[in-house]
Amino acid sequence: MLTYVLFAVAYLLGSIPFALIVGKVGYGIDIRQHGSGNLGGTNTFRTLGKKAGFIVTIGDILKGTIAASLPILFGLEWNPLWFGIAAVIGHMYPIFANFRGGKAVATSAGVLLFCQPFVFVILLVVFLSLLFTTKYVSLSSILTAISGVIAALFVDDTPFLIAISVLAIFVIYRHRANISRIINKTEPKVKF
Ligand code: G3P
Repeated sequence: MLTYVLFAVAYLLGSIPFALIVGKVGYGIDIRQHGSGNLGGTNTFRTLGKKAGFIVTIGDILKGTIAASLPILFGLEWNPLWFGIAAVIGHMYPIFANFRGGKAVATSAGVLLFCQPFVFVILLVVFLSLLFTTKYVSLSSILTAISGVIAALFVDDTPFLIAISVLAIFVIYRHRANISRIINKTEPKVKF
């Protein structure tokens, strides 16, 4: 019973729409009607600036980290990765925002931070290198997700390989519109 409750808690944690909350409470706007319309850190940076973008990104990361820690906090013999995935599903399809959420990147990063911190650091370096080179957050996110699967091949942990592959599929699937825009050359680049 506790297992089911904690999976529900992980999903509900992931469902907290930080981009929507920060936009509405802090700035009086619905972020879904601005920029890419995505409920995520990138669109918050784009629409509301650095401060709001950082708050949303940190919040979205922490959702994944806290959800992944649930089985350990409550003494369950479950792999934290599955609770992290429940949070990522909540982030993508949030019950508190009509099931229209983000693109799985920051919350997956939070799961990774808890479950495989070394891989997290490697992927953070990969992501930032790609971002400074390509200037596309979306392309950097997709290529980092694929790099995560490649990195997992070198970690002797089959559940981790499966979980990171699932997360990479989520990330790629949720970036379908971005992929079309990259091909059409209409995807916005970030300015540093
Ligand atoms: O993490 C989401 C990012 O990769 C793309 O966001 O708003 O440009 O679609 P956005």
